Amino acid sequence: MATNEVEQPEQPIAQSGAQTIAYPAPGARPNRRDEAALAPHVIVLFGATGDLAKRKLLPGMAYLVLSSLAPKIRVVGTSLEDLSPDEFRELTREAVDAFGTHKLTDAQWDDFASRITYVPQGAGPEALAEAVAAAEAELSSEVDVAAGMTAEVQRLHYLSVPPKAARAVITMLRDAKLVDRSRVVMEKPFGTDLASAIELNDFVHETFRERQIFRIDHFLGKEAAQNILAFRFANGLFEPIWNRNFIDHIQIDIPETLGLDQRANFYESTGAYKDMVVTHLFQVMAFVVMEPPTALEPRAISEEKNKVFRSMLPIQCSDVVRGQYAGYRNEEGVARDSDTETFIALKVGIDNWRWAGVPIYLRTGKKLAEGMRIISIAFKEAPRTMFPAGSGVGSQGPDHLTFDLADASKVSLSFYGKRPGPGMKLDKMSMQFSTQETENVGDVLEAYERLILDAMRGDHTLFTTAEGIESLWDRSMQLLDDPPPVKQYQPGTWGPNAIHQLVAPNAWRLPFERAWREKK
Ligand code: BG6
Repeated sequence: MATNEVEQPEQPIAQSGAQTIAYPAPGARPNRRDEAALAPHVIVLFGATGDLAKRKLLPGMAYLVLSSLAPKIRVVGTSLEDLSPDEFRELTREAVDAFGTHKLTDAQWDDFASRITYVPQGAGPEALAEAVAAAEAELSSEVDVAAGMTAEVQRLHYLSVPPKAARAVITMLRDAKLVDRSRVVMEKPFGTDLASAIELNDFVHETFRERQIFRIDHFLGKEAAQNILAFRFANGLFEPIWNRNFIDHIQIDIPETLGLDQRANFYESTGAYKDMVVTHLFQVMAFVVMEPPTALEPRAISEEKNKVFRSMLPIQCSDVVRGQYAGYRNEEGVARDSDTETFIALKVGIDNWRWAGVPIYLRTGKKLAEGMRIISIAFKEAPRTMFPAGSGVGSQGPDHLTFDLADASKVSLSFYGKRPGPGMKLDKMSMQFSTQETENVGDVLEAYERLILDAMRGDHTLFTTAEGIESLWDRSMQLLDDPPPVKQYQPGTWGPNAIHQLVAPNAWRLPFERAWREKK
């Protein structure tokens, strides 16, 4: 079961771009007033030759060094592939060039290359321990106790491996005696149902304490997701109307145009619900609907998120549309009779004082018409009696507040206004904000950069707890035990037709009636 251990409060969210940051050592009781520089870290990257490592993690680590956000790191890559350190550096260079958001000069690359090495997982725990010890020895001269760092180099184990492989990695870390001074980042899915999640959490807790574990959900690392917290809690304008009296319904809509992208094996055993909903969509939903936390710090935020998950009504099969794109069963690696959903739309209810009766619609899927990530809040409509027939009031749906979770976040508020000219004709108008239009756009951190940095700092604010994950699986059991049959949809559409009945009498916000305003 989830640990009952009482965690100490950690650091509040620090500013991105800040170079002096508070940092507690893994075993230490963090003190919010500590102003220590980030200690040197050895990052042990499991799954170092995999897709996520190439696309996000290695380029992200290169940027953390380059930007001086985490200048003193060394990376020990490891995976099932039998590569030499030089071959791994070559792979890393290609990955950084192809996927990095910031290009490296030759000198910058040479610096980063000198910080990475590789040891095949097959070489065993001793070889891994030796590689880590060598990296620690190289870093030890960089420990600066005067700057408030802990006296020893710290360790961050990043498990970019499928859940089945996570156990072997944890065992290897224990055998290699790499548990001290360490934190461990785990990739989703965290189990595949309630029983497996409890079992996995119990297993990990045999080796690591909950405060050492960082279950990553990269959506919460997106600037735009954190902007929801800023928007809700830093402004007096919206919070008073953030409840069932003023809000009619909410949509969290994350359609993707991508297909399987060589991940048939992974996807066949997960599907859209486990891949996207249990992790990303529910986590983002919690930021949208949670009560104001007592402070913007990890324990307070986790408490509020966990309360949301506990208040969620069990998902009813009749509130779910599962879809599969035509042609999925012919994809390489997919069973010819596969029942895996590549699309899901569902209605969720939160049974608490703030949200009772307000439906929350979630949708995500592969090979859909557009790639978008939006949260849309629909407000209750005004009485229309005073407007003449044909004025257009209400004709374009309710007023909406919309968040776009793109890397550079956008927010828009739509409302009815008068069309210029004679008479009283109304049009839907919008006020839009985009980070792209601000001078800070260059400071946006990619989600994984932000989260790797937070894990090294020991800041759990944007990570998921064992308890939260277990509640979500608990609310999902009816659906997992008796899923409705998958309905086929054509690639390039918005999913099976049944999605319209699901939200009736409301309508899906996407596709947008007006495009986002682009920077001139
Ligand atoms: C991943 C899922 O976690 O998130 C993928 O496994 C999905 O299936 C991806 O495509 C979407 O993330 P982003 O940040 O690219 O929108």
